[in-house]
Amino acid sequence: MSEDRYLTFALGKGRLANKTMELFEEIGITCEEMKDKNSRKLIFVNEEQKLRFFLSKGPDVPTYVEYGAADIGIVGRDTILEENRNVHEVLDLGYGKCRMCVCGPVSAKKLLLHHERIRVASKYPNIAKDYFYNKKHQTVDIIKLNGSVELGPLVELSDVIVDIVETGSTLKENGLEVLEEVCPLSARMIVNPVSMQMETERIKDLVNRLRMRLEATLKSNTPQ
Ligand code: PRP
Repeated sequence: MSEDRYLTFALGKGRLANKTMELFEEIGITCEEMKDKNSRKLIFVNEEQKLRFFLSKGPDVPTYVEYGAADIGIVGRDTILEENRNVHEVLDLGYGKCRMCVCGPVSAKKLLLHHERIRVASKYPNIAKDYFYNKKHQTVDIIKLNGSVELGPLVELSDVIVDIVETGSTLKENGLEVLEEVCPLSARMIVNPVSMQMETERIKDLVNRLRMRLEATLKSNTPQ
């Protein structure tokens, strides 16, 4: 363990980063300069605790962590599965809960049952491929989109989509339904394998403190 070395965190910009900093504050990890919401700065430092935080696009977080540009990353499980990088997943942070699902018009259900060769639009082509090829053993054509994926079946680009469902309101407002669930999702902490060896004590201590905090919050929110 080297106390002089900065421990670097890559956080997915936006809601996930905000939620993460709230949780970190609860265990005494703060970064005052990150609180200025008008700032366009990308790297923030806590000199006293020798911590460094940077904000990146979510899908880039596993890349920074795999290459060691960040020791630790906080990112959704969807991104971890899609990017499939060489990183260790060490903690389920519990927030950002949602589901990866196959969705479409109800009429598409029979296409899934009969293993037909269908078109699947998704922002997550690797997750979609893994689900259809390896789990369902169904040959499909996958079309990569970058957002507003629900448009796929609406404009007849695809039969179904593989996408994130949180409240379900995007599907409902567009006349689509969850047809099958691929997997549950939430925010996760990932660690670079070399950092895990070099900074074992510091990282283990951080994970334990976070885990205890998350368990305490869960307990206080559970009706007795
Ligand atoms: C995500 C996801 C769905 C929507 C699901 O999209 O891709 O479209 O949220 O949320 P809901 O179930 O609560 O309606 P996002 O807002 O990230 O934008 P995008 O479609 O451009 O990816």
